[in-house]
Amino acid sequence: MNELLLIVLAYLIGSIPTAVWVSRYFFDIDIRDYGSGNAGATNTFRVLGSKWGSFVMVIDIIKGVVATSLYIVLPYYMADEWARTNLMIGLGLSAVIGHIFPIWAGFRGGKGVATLLGMAVAIQPLVAICCIGVFLLVLYLTRFVSLSSILAGISFMVFILFIFNEKEPLYRIFAVLVALMVVLTHQKNIGRILKGTESKVPILKYRDR
Ligand code: G3P
Repeated sequence: MNELLLIVLAYLIGSIPTAVWVSRYFFDIDIRDYGSGNAGATNTFRVLGSKWGSFVMVIDIIKGVVATSLYIVLPYYMADEWARTNLMIGLGLSAVIGHIFPIWAGFRGGKGVATLLGMAVAIQPLVAICCIGVFLLVLYLTRFVSLSSILAGISFMVFILFIFNEKEPLYRIFAVLVALMVVLTHQKNIGRILKGTESKVPILKYRDR
C-alpha cells in the first residue's frame, strides 16, 4: 500500500509541468502553442531563451531524481537491493509518465527526456554519464536535440545490455523500455528529420563559419 502511494506521488511529481507553468506565469503564453509545441526544456530554450530553458531542464531532471529516490521513506528498501531496484524503476517510470501526461496540465506534457535522465542518474549514474556523453557528441555533430535525445536513449539500452552487460533481467527490460519510450515520444521529430524540417540549435553556430 505504501509503495502504491509512493508510485502515485512519483506520478504527481513528474506531472509538475515546469515548461507550461514558466511560460504561463512569466510570459502569459502556453509554450505548447509555440515552437515544436512540446512542453519541455528544448522548446523552452527555443521559445523563451537559454535562462528559462536551463531552469526547466534542471527542474525536470530534479523531478526524476526526487521521484526515483522516494524509496528512502520506506526503511525496508534501504537494506534490500533487489527490492529497491524494483521500486526505483517503478517510481522513476511513474514520474516519466507524469511528465509526458501531466495531470496538472491537461495530460499534454513533454517527451520525458530530462526526467528520464534524472531517473537514470538516481539508478545508474555511470550509465547516465555515458549517455550524456552520447547526447553531447550527437548534438555537436548534428545540432538536432531530438536526434541527440533519441540516440542517448538508445545508447542507454546498448550500455546496459552490451557494454556494462547488466545481468539483472529487470534492468534489461527497463533499458529496452527507455529506448522504446524515446523513439515513441519523438515520432514527430523523426518525421521532421526525414523531411529535413527539424530545427537545429544555434549554440554551435561557429561550425558554420
Ligand atoms: O527532449 C525533447 C527533445 O528531444 C526534442 O524537443 O522541442 O525539439 O521537440 P523538441
